Amino acid sequence: MEKMVIEGGRPLRGAVSVSGAKNAALPIMAGCLLGGGRHVLRNVPRLRDISTIVRIMEQLGVRFDEGEDFLGVDASDLSGYEAPYDLVRTMRASILLLGPLLARQGKARISLPGGCAIGARPVNLHLRALVAMGADMHLDQGYIHATAGRLKGADIFFDIPTVTGTENIMMAAVLAEGRTVLRNAANEPEVKDLADLLRAMGAQIEGDGGDIITIEGVESLKGVEHTIIPDRIETGTFMIAAAMTGGDVSISGCRPEHVGALMEKLKSAGVGVEVVPGCIRVQGSEEIRGVDIKTMPFPGFPTDLQAQFMALMCVARGSSLIRETIFENRFIHVSELKRMGADIEINGNQALVRGRERLSAAPVMATDLRASACLVLAGLAAEGGRTEVSRIYHLDRGYEALDVKFQGLGAAIWREKE
Ligand code: EPZ
Repeated sequence: MEKMVIEGGRPLRGAVSVSGAKNAALPIMAGCLLGGGRHVLRNVPRLRDISTIVRIMEQLGVRFDEGEDFLGVDASDLSGYEAPYDLVRTMRASILLLGPLLARQGKARISLPGGCAIGARPVNLHLRALVAMGADMHLDQGYIHATAGRLKGADIFFDIPTVTGTENIMMAAVLAEGRTVLRNAANEPEVKDLADLLRAMGAQIEGDGGDIITIEGVESLKGVEHTIIPDRIETGTFMIAAAMTGGDVSISGCRPEHVGALMEKLKSAGVGVEVVPGCIRVQGSEEIRGVDIKTMPFPGFPTDLQAQFMALMCVARGSSLIRETIFENRFIHVSELKRMGADIEINGNQALVRGRERLSAAPVMATDLRASACLVLAGLAAEGGRTEVSRIYHLDRGYEALDVKFQGLGAAIWREKE
């Protein structure tokens, strides 16, 4: 295992470009199962989660090839329908294979994703919708066993605007018989990116990016080329890093309109944010003010930036009330931040952060993907020696070469064997 070692206290300066979005690439790769023929995907981030879904899809008979800037995906001849436990437990998003496999093969055996550090992460809304579309579903020894003839369009209301639930059912619906309507659908940009891929393949989808998505089933879909949208969470992570270190960073290859909520909060906190097409410049200031946030579905403040923003609030002047409304256990990073001198009080799904002059370097442990990013940011701002973040395999699931990118901005950060 590896740890990240950081000598903090240096303002980040310079330019950095973001990679493709993990949470768009995963559903899009699953969506490639729906079309006979070869797809060419560009801007696919090189991440552990991506290599995990590649391994699972290879077992399904999908053939991959890759070049410098593309990933070829050929799902012409599928030979399997199972996503095994040993791979699914490391990457819950494997549930995204269920809809496409049912639509294409009429059969799927997917290990039921367990919970993870941030919550129970049930998939009941996915399963209920597929049953409404005519699938037979039962659980046995930790696996979802699903079969279906041709799925039938249905009118689906999601109790919660589930992101992967919306994506899963959209993929199931594109080859179904008739019309499917998804109500209270997730609006996240990654949902729209998947819809753009499916439309290019020949699917008939309207309303994506809004609360009601309508899909008219078609008979078959073809192979296409598609470029993955930039990662808005990586973009936000760099914006917060620039603010925390009092630096001056230009983030290119991003979509400013995907990080609107964070931009507003940073401006309210006194951070300089300047937008030019495809690029955001963030200048930290001496005086960062505490501001409150509440995580919400897109376009509200994203839960995947809550931990990173909390790290910033730890060194702000004044206090910040942080409310986490999406997941039930997404404050695990708090105890690690407190080891670095942060003053944080948790009360249910709210955390009251009282800003301090500075954080102090300390050995800390990553517990989940975004918590590990938060600890790296805290280490970059901490003074008085080295912060060592252990178990950074969590970080590698969702950030491509984050240490190298921070080195390019002048940070003293490197990997060591634990
Ligand atoms: C997606 O997870 C993202 N993952 C998460 O990013 C992100 O935090 C989350 O959306 C919220 O934006 C991917 O896209 C691969 P949800 P997902 O279904 O789809 C409850 C990261 O760090 N729920 O929108 O699993 C659920 O428990 C990851 O990159 C049900 O109750 O999230 C949660 O409280 C972390 N039943 C809420 O809905 C269901 O069937 C939102 O979950 C589904 C969800």
